[in-house]
Amino acid sequence: MINDKMAKALNEQMNKEFYNSRLYLSMATFFHDINMEGGAKWMEKQAAEETEHAMKLYNYLKDRGARILLTEVPAPPTSWASPLAAFEDAYKHECDVSKEIDDLVEMARTLKDNATLNFLQWFVDEQVEEEAITDAIVQKLKMASKGSGALFFMDRMLGER
Ligand code: FEO
Repeated sequence: MINDKMAKALNEQMNKEFYNSRLYLSMATFFHDINMEGGAKWMEKQAAEETEHAMKLYNYLKDRGARILLTEVPAPPTSWASPLAAFEDAYKHECDVSKEIDDLVEMARTLKDNATLNFLQWFVDEQVEEEAITDAIVQKLKMASKGSGALFFMDRMLGER
């Protein structure tokens, strides 16, 4: 049986991951709107991954006998100044998520909850990857912003995800 405080924090994280999915889906609609289908596809895949993150937490809570509570998910932003601004937001958001995961790890450690510590390691590794990927796209978009041709090829590359 999992500690109530730990279960509550993991439940909150599950709801945050559902928000993350909606955030990326909203970004996908922005990319559709500016006719960058590659960017839209990238964001749709990311949204699906975020739902998987939420479901990992859901299944873990279920396995540990915790009561799972789905709470209200806030509306995400709906527009960005540019493709670069959207990916800069994505990168910043992933850094915030990494901090949330670190806080959960800290709680698990304090509560001597080794099962949760072990479970969270997947998220720790995933965040390293998510920060690196979004930051790399930000850097490329900065270079591409110097010419519309480069942005066109960048969109193609994003669509190959
Ligand atoms: Fe599930 Fe990208 O944080």
